[in-house]
Amino acid sequence: MLVRCGACGHRFPVEYRGSACPCGGLLDVRHCPERTAAALRTVFDRRAGAASLARGRVGGEVAASGVWRFRELLLPGDGATLAHPEGDTPIYRREAVSRFAGVADLGLKHEGQNPTGSFKDRGMTVAVSHAARHGATAVACASTGNTSASMAAYAARAGLPALVLVPAGRVAAGKLAQAVAYGARTLMVRGDFDDCLRLCREAADELGVTLLNSINPWRIEGQKTIVLEMLQQRGWQPPDWIAVPAGNLGNTSAFGKALVEARDLGLIDRLPRIAAIQAAGASPFERSYRTDFRKRYSVRAETVATAIRIGDPASHDRAVRSIRDTRGVVARVTDIEILAAKAIIDAAGIGCEPASAASVAGVRKLVRAGTIRPGESVVAVLTGHVLKDAEIVMKYHSTKGRGRHSPTEIPAELRAVARFVRAS
Ligand code: F0G
Repeated sequence: MLVRCGACGHRFPVEYRGSACPCGGLLDVRHCPERTAAALRTVFDRRAGAASLARGRVGGEVAASGVWRFRELLLPGDGATLAHPEGDTPIYRREAVSRFAGVADLGLKHEGQNPTGSFKDRGMTVAVSHAARHGATAVACASTGNTSASMAAYAARAGLPALVLVPAGRVAAGKLAQAVAYGARTLMVRGDFDDCLRLCREAADELGVTLLNSINPWRIEGQKTIVLEMLQQRGWQPPDWIAVPAGNLGNTSAFGKALVEARDLGLIDRLPRIAAIQAAGASPFERSYRTDFRKRYSVRAETVATAIRIGDPASHDRAVRSIRDTRGVVARVTDIEILAAKAIIDAAGIGCEPASAASVAGVRKLVRAGTIRPGESVVAVLTGHVLKDAEIVMKYHSTKGRGRHSPTEIPAELRAVARFVRAS
């Protein structure tokens, strides 16, 4: 295994806790597993089988983790492995969502079912374990909410102090409550996410604190397991497409890396195409895609999907590589399209937060545009839990329209219940 700069190729020791090279490029982890693809598949599948037995057993967190089952491709070696445990998330299939999206073979990989309610736990278990193994004394992140919730939980697990910077007034209450509850020192910055990240990078350098945003290469390693686990769940048969909401572009980067590594190792024989979906009000990557990535943009972001309200994505370059490597596409969806998709996913009894629904809204759009064919297989990733952003649910249902139903207050009398039931 080696760590090197994705821009200039400079090498770093595995113990290095920084995220960027002096040249400004972000760091990349390269693995050289000694086992063959068949041997790796066997060991991954054996661990998956053992996972359910290990769940709940004292000290069974690592064995039960849907992340650490792939450890040879993440962070090999000895030392603390801090799991909660995470991953092992289901792939749902729901007729109503398939019909809405316009593809019969649609799987919904629900990352909201991780311990803190988002996919961030997969990256955080690896990044916090790496930080703890190599002498970190404190950790920090900027966040639109989920990263801070996850980092706070894993920092608590590691016994490390945690510093969180979030945009004031722009983070869903559930996420902020988690960061506070898990014990992070939380700063509400008068600015947007992009300001928070800039400030956090400067503060981390200045104060010698380990930065745990997705520019940290170990976060990317952990998040690769969304794709690895999905491939495993499908018997190592890749779908035609993987749709993912795109904000700071950590996932888009991780997915491309996971797929290329899996193909190069021989775990899969062809690459699915990545569809990265942005909110229209926060779509600098989509804009850049339309120039064939000749130009890079930064915008003032605005969207109801606060998790992806990001105007200057930090992992732009590595996400470009992912889209190119997988012959992927980038699309954007409006807030109305996001909320319509969310309502369908919610009403199927699954639920997700607004940003997550961008993946399904994007599939629908790409099917209508003829980019995804109705007969192709698609896995859309739902990135966060429905309870992360309860405010948006209540707001959506408080306005009139089909499928909307806000709660009705009644006196504590049977007559009132009966009247309500008859009327509805
Ligand atoms: N979906 C959810 C629910 C998110 O929280 C995020 C990012 C994304 C999608 C976008 O993923 O950044 O890898 O492209 N949330 C970060 C945070 C920025 O601070 O919680 P990405």
